[in-house]
Amino acid sequence: MNINQLKTYCYSPYSSYKEDCCLLVGVSGTIYPGVRVENISFPLTITPLHGAICSCLANNDQPAAYFSNAASGELESYWENQYKIERLADVPDPAAGSFFSPFAEEITDPVKTLKDLIPLAVTSHSDFPVSALLYSEKGIVTGVNVEVTSWSLGLCAERVAIFRAISAGARNFKKMAIYAPNGDFNSPCGACRQVLVEWMPSAQMELHHGDHSWSTHETVHLLPFAFSSSKLDK
Ligand code: THU
Repeated sequence: MNINQLKTYCYSPYSSYKEDCCLLVGVSGTIYPGVRVENISFPLTITPLHGAICSCLANNDQPAAYFSNAASGELESYWENQYKIERLADVPDPAAGSFFSPFAEEITDPVKTLKDLIPLAVTSHSDFPVSALLYSEKGIVTGVNVEVTSWSLGLCAERVAIFRAISAGARNFKKMAIYAPNGDFNSPCGACRQVLVEWMPSAQMELHHGDHSWSTHETVHLLPFAFSSSKLDK
């Protein structure tokens, strides 16, 4: 992974921040890539460092240092302070650590994989872990929910998986499976639905419920009349 390649993974159709990305070094030495992932509902945009921190925490790791080229610089000083992370002047040397791969090993039993992911969820406030598997053209991407000090800056399992997939250069998604052991009828929240509709409107959402039943739904049916406007593209 080099920074020039990472820049091309950015999804910024609504702004001029076309190449904002970061590389976050975890305490383990693993390097987590992050790119700007905008949403037509602007407050749902995930900035590179925000997503990379959630990706790192969702891998049972802690943030240590980061390099960012982000022109927007949104919230970077906030994350620096929260996690006491060092800002690097140069791209971290990949020899110093390995790049994080968001892709699951071969999956024979998706429900077992969803259950195995649950201990990685960071649920300090809710004790409500959620796991997700996102089926992309590059492989199956894992996600769990991450809660941080500021509740509104946590990310749901679905959005951790989408952020990781896009930061790994995946763009085409045909299915997502989600699971929450403490849930009843498990179903994505409204904010995730808006993001899912932008990325995979005609894909399948496979919902695994608390009573071990499951159901599958076309994403677009989960959010009829989703927000959209051709006026917002830039
Ligand atoms: N959560 C998800 O991960 N996905 C959803 O679709 C619903 C909610 C998480 C967010 C938060 O960490 C916890 O569940 C309680 O809201």
